Amino acid sequence: MRKVLNKKAVLFAGLVVSSGSASSSEVEVLHWWTSGGEASALNLLKQDLESQGIGWTDMPVAGGGGEQAMTVLRARVTAGNAPTAVQGLGFDIIDWGNQGALANLNAVAEKEGWDDVVPEALKTFAKVDGKWVAAPVNVHSTNWVWANKPVLDANGIEQPTSWADFEAALKKLKEAGITPIAHGGQAWQDATVFDAISLSTLGAEGYTAAFVELDAEVLRSDEMKEAFDRMAVIRNNVDDNFSGRDWNLATAMVINGEAGFQLMGDWAKGEFVKAGQKPGEDFLCFRFPGTADQVTFNSDQFMMFDQGGEVSHEQEKLAAAILSPEFQSSFNVVKGSVPARTDVSDAAFDSCGKQGMKDLIAASESGNLLGSMAHGHAAPTSVKSAIYDVVTAHFNGEYDSETAVVELADAVEISR
Ligand code: GAL
Repeated sequence: MRKVLNKKAVLFAGLVVSSGSASSSEVEVLHWWTSGGEASALNLLKQDLESQGIGWTDMPVAGGGGEQAMTVLRARVTAGNAPTAVQGLGFDIIDWGNQGALANLNAVAEKEGWDDVVPEALKTFAKVDGKWVAAPVNVHSTNWVWANKPVLDANGIEQPTSWADFEAALKKLKEAGITPIAHGGQAWQDATVFDAISLSTLGAEGYTAAFVELDAEVLRSDEMKEAFDRMAVIRNNVDDNFSGRDWNLATAMVINGEAGFQLMGDWAKGEFVKAGQKPGEDFLCFRFPGTADQVTFNSDQFMMFDQGGEVSHEQEKLAAAILSPEFQSSFNVVKGSVPARTDVSDAAFDSCGKQGMKDLIAASESGNLLGSMAHGHAAPTSVKSAIYDVVTAHFNGEYDSETAVVELADAVEISR
């Protein structure tokens, strides 16, 4: 029995009942997977559904990190025209679930045994009031560095294992006339870099205190100031045309040897795979120096929007396809992420994928599996956006580090 809905949710339910939902035997899916690697991975899901006689109406909304997609989603829902399924992250899923906007997937979850194989860290964001409201597709993580191996070899650079090593490598690349760091100047990308950098100066406990507990002292701490000082070093090692560049075009700079490094989530791996490059030969993947034992994760999940009444047959089919062991292997091999189930073999994964799967288990067992602040798994969206604003303002030179930590603590306090 659906719990008594608050006024807003009742209004919402009314809107949805009149929704122009996708006609039967097809699903309309809103997502932001528009890069080469992302589209290749998504195609596997489309093909799976079509093989089951379910058509796929694609609703891509470009914009890394999904902010643009969430804006379009809000407009669609307000118009009473919610898509069948929507890619979502962490706290956004909880928000929609709490509004009563999402279908109940408990029947398919029970039939498929999800509770036994999906890690607790993902269930935190997939279930609201004991109801499954989303199907987890993968586990990405953000504290990775991607490097062009021939470029490093040609400049006598070993894989850096400390911040000092990393700075020395940047200096060598700059002296060789190679862009040290490929980056896209967009707030979500600046924040993604900040995930790794702040983890390296705060440690796991400090990162949790800052971005989950929103502890003002830690937000203003010397370790947080050091994180901003390191961000200034990153800023001084990107090329002149970094502003506004899409993340996958930055990855292409590393793939083609124009740049040495990119600090980015492991969706970047999907671009190397798409380009036919091999880990250990053409490129390196490694945890940002100082964060080798930690993982800042974000899981892509598909929210099934209530189309008026019970969950639809097509939504259940889509959800079951997403969490099937076969799809969990084939999709994540291409996407650069790791499976959302704990019982999938790493046999099909390359060395970076195997490392990612190993790191996830180790971090989960050691208490070092941390929700990514930049990708909506540490704090509600209002707080995430407030952090984005301060980090990107600092990256663009509006604040020095001393000012940034004060602005950060103030912005978080106001946004919570
Ligand atoms: C993340 C998402 C990834 C990838 C990335 C770049 O939020 O989890 O799957 O899409 O954004 O857009």
